Amino acid sequence: MQQKYINWDEKFSVHVEIIDSQHKKLFESINTLLQLMEKEIIIEDLEEILDDMFDYFDYHFSSEEKLIKKHPEFEHHRQRHLEFINNVKEYNNKFLAKDPEIIAEKMFVFLSEWLQNHILREDRYSFDYLQKHNLLKDEA
Ligand SMILES: [Fe+2]
Repeated sequence: MQQKYINWDEKFSVHVEIIDSQHKKLFESINTLLQLMEKEIIIEDLEEILDDMFDYFDYHFSSEEKLIKKHPEFEHHRQRHLEFINNVKEYNNKFLAKDPEIIAEKMFVFLSEWLQNHILREDRYSFDYLQKHNLLKDEA
């Protein structure tokens, strides 16, 4: 297993404290998959971690969507979130019968890549625009 822990740093900042702190929490949550792999993984523990993580993703997306709904491309951004949730469920089902080491590693790779790319593209793009056009302050 050659995966590395992911670290939140300033380049991921969208300059909105609540969203940055939720993103940090998602980074930590994804890293727990790697921590889990350092020992022998029990499938029930893995399922619980993934369930909690997906709940938190849902919660995070709904807070983010409240803040970005004035963005002209809000629908597009919201679709990215929906697609992610659907993909992740599909992904989870696909690996359900496999060994927990494989699920944990594949999930780690998928989630860490998706989250980092999404923040650097869609999130930063949306929040930059809203800040530039002063469309955030009433919503925060
Ligand atoms: Fe987003």
